[in-house]
Amino acid sequence: MIRTVFLGLGRCLPERVVTNNDLSQWMDTTDDWIVDRTGIRERRWVGEECGGSDLGAEAAREACERACVPLAEVDCIIVATLSPDHAFPGTACFMQAKLDLPGVPALDIRNQCSGFLYGLSVADAWIRCGTYRRVLLVGTEVHSTGLDVSTEGRDVACLFGDGAGAVLLGPAEEGSDRGVLSVHLHADGHHAKDLWIEAPSSRTVPQRITPEMLAEGKQFPKMRNRRVFTSAVQKMPEVIREALAQNEIGLEQIKLVVPHQANQRITEAVAKQLGISDEIMFSNIEFLGNTTAASIPLALYDAEQQGRIKKGDLIMLAAFGAGFTWGASLLRW
Ligand code: UT7
Repeated sequence: MIRTVFLGLGRCLPERVVTNNDLSQWMDTTDDWIVDRTGIRERRWVGEECGGSDLGAEAAREACERACVPLAEVDCIIVATLSPDHAFPGTACFMQAKLDLPGVPALDIRNQCSGFLYGLSVADAWIRCGTYRRVLLVGTEVHSTGLDVSTEGRDVACLFGDGAGAVLLGPAEEGSDRGVLSVHLHADGHHAKDLWIEAPSSRTVPQRITPEMLAEGKQFPKMRNRRVFTSAVQKMPEVIREALAQNEIGLEQIKLVVPHQANQRITEAVAKQLGISDEIMFSNIEFLGNTTAASIPLALYDAEQQGRIKKGDLIMLAAFGAGFTWGASLLRW
């Protein structure tokens, strides 16, 4: 059976570092509160006009370079983002133009923090069927231009960071046991409004956004914090166990769990639920914050750089986020 392997990883982070103390200029918060409740010390925010497609294109270039595959060989582009450059067309189209790959299909995935795993599932199916051989899968976000940085929005604004992570995917060599072993996806739309942006909305008439809606702050993300937190802590271990069971693999065989970087307390609670040590859970939230769809590829990038994952290791990816959506994937690196 053909399996999908990760051929190369890339990333792009805005240069501007925003510390917790920087945030306290705009909102009533402290470094202590944010570190204690989230584990985040700083995040990157764009400082000038820059979209997810710009960050994504840079990350994609690096992924191809590191895979030693010329960009021209890419035959499919998938971009996961909740912060598209524009309502339409998709960020993947803008990014495809920046990479100068006309004709190559470009697909946007809108599944928030689970977007990378939803995208991986699609890419894996295409590669296993032989539809495409060199698939660029990019998670990219520019949150900072859409956050309420006043005290009103401090719970959400302190979490999110900008950045892009990219992976080049392709079929494994014949006879190899490496690659994506399985992907498991879930959603529960009953919770759609537990973490969402209300406007602009095509449902509102006669206009998608009005000065009144802007004055009420409906253009900013809103979260039912506790509900999201407790659901993440419940669903991530559940779907990790599902992936283990399907592959008849025990937790003790997993070299590293690379979870979506939502909140350090969530990562620690998931480890506790699973009964594994914090060392097996990868974390880089301290320096990047929560980058939603970009967080798993950015974490994989750092994990590989730090020598925490090596060829042949069993790696578990897991995510939970708005929708609600959640998922996991087991890989043999
Ligand atoms: O990425 C995908 C999905 N997202 C997540 O998984 C995130 C899930 N949720 C969380 O990470 C946490 O719920 C938050 C970090 C968002 C909030 O932490 P919390 O411990 O759940 O705090 P809370 O919302 O219960 O608020 C506790 C207090 C409140 O004050 P009062 O009402 O007790 O006086 C908040 O107003 O903390 C206050 N607060 C802050 N204080 C200082 C909220 N944000 C801040 C802040 N600085 N940035």
